[in-house]
Amino acid sequence: MLVYEDAPVVEPGPGEVLVEVHAAAITFAELGWEETWKSADGRDRTPIIPSHEVSGVVSELGADVTEFRVGDEVYGRIGFDLNGAAADYATVPVGDLALRPTSVGHVESASVPLAALTAWQALVDHAEVQSGEHVIVLGASGGVGAFGVQIARHCRARVSATARGADLDFVKGLGAEVVLDYRAMSGNEGLETADVVLHTVDGPVTASELDLVRPGGRLVTLSQPISPELLEGRNVRAIFFIVEANRAELETIARLVDSGAVKPTVAQVFTLADGRRAFEEGPRLHKPGKTVLQVR
Ligand SMILES: NC(=O)c1ccc[n+]([C@@H]2O[C@H](COP(=O)([O-])OP(=O)(O)OC[C@H]3O[C@@H](n4cnc5c(N)ncnc54)[C@H](OP(=O)(O)O)[C@@H]3O)[C@@H](O)[C@H]2O)c1
Repeated sequence: MLVYEDAPVVEPGPGEVLVEVHAAAITFAELGWEETWKSADGRDRTPIIPSHEVSGVVSELGADVTEFRVGDEVYGRIGFDLNGAAADYATVPVGDLALRPTSVGHVESASVPLAALTAWQALVDHAEVQSGEHVIVLGASGGVGAFGVQIARHCRARVSATARGADLDFVKGLGAEVVLDYRAMSGNEGLETADVVLHTVDGPVTASELDLVRPGGRLVTLSQPISPELLEGRNVRAIFFIVEANRAELETIARLVDSGAVKPTVAQVFTLADGRRAFEEGPRLHKPGKTVLQVR
C-alpha cells in the first residue's frame, strides 16, 4: 500500500550524494516492476520509496565524490532497485546524475531523465537509427514515446506514430509526419513499414505491430521482450533492454532541452502528499507526457 509518511533521511555513502528533491516524476508501471519490491538476490525491499526521476539540489556529498559540489542543480534517473525520489531527500549514486537543463524549472527537468534516457538508448544506442530512416513510435504521446519522436527527429529520421485521438496534434507538433489514432486504426492502414519500430506500449507486442517492421529492420520493446514464437520466420532484429545510468547521455539530453531541440512534456503535477493519487488517477487522465510530484 502506498502511504505518505515520515521516513529517515539516509546519509549518502561513498560515491553517493544527498539530493534535496524539488520534483520527482513517476512511471505508472513502476509499481509492477519486480525490482521495485525485491533486491537482485530476491530479498523483500519494502518499505520502498517510488519515483525514479529526480530534479533537485545536491545538499551533501558522500565520501570520494568529486563529480558534484553542494548546491549543484542536478537531475537523474535512479536505479529501479533503489529507493526513489518521492521524498524530501533522496540518496543517489553519482553515476545516476548530471547537471540539469537550466532553461526549464525543476518540474519539467524531473520529467526528462528516465523517459528521455530510455528513448535515447532505444534509438541511438540499440537501434542505431540513421539519418533518413523511417521510425515508427507506438505510444507516441506517453512519457517515453514523446521523447522517442523528438530523438528520432534529432537523428534526422522520418517519424510516423500512433497515439490516442486527442493527442494526434500534440504528436505532430513533436515532429511526426504521420500520426494515427491507435483506437481507430484498421490494422496497419495508413502506416508504411519502418526501419525501426519503437514499442512504448505497456504490454506485449502484437503480430500486427510486428508487421510494421520492414524485413531486416529493428524492433525495440520496453515493457517486455517479444515472444520467440512471434519472431519465428521473420527477419527482424528484436531488442529489449533496461535503461542504464549514463551521465554523458544525460548531459547531451540536457543540452538538447536547453537548445529547444527536445521539449519536456508534463502531463500533470501532484503534490508529494498526493503521490498515491498520482499513481491511481494519472493513468486515467490519459494526458501526454510525464506525471510529476512537486516536492518543493
Ligand atoms: N525497459 C526500460 O528500461 C523502460 C524504461 C522506462 C519505461 N519502460 C516501460 O515502457 C512503457 C512505457 O512507459 P511510459 O512511461 O512511456 O508509459 P506511458 O506514459 O503510460 O505511455 C504509454 C503510452 O502508450 C499508449 N498506448 C496504450 N495502448 C496503446 C496501443 N495499443 N497503441 C499505441 N499506443 C498505446 C498510451 O496512450 P493512452 O493515453 O491512450 O493510454 C500512452 O500514451 C511501460 O511499459 C514502462 O514500464 C521501460
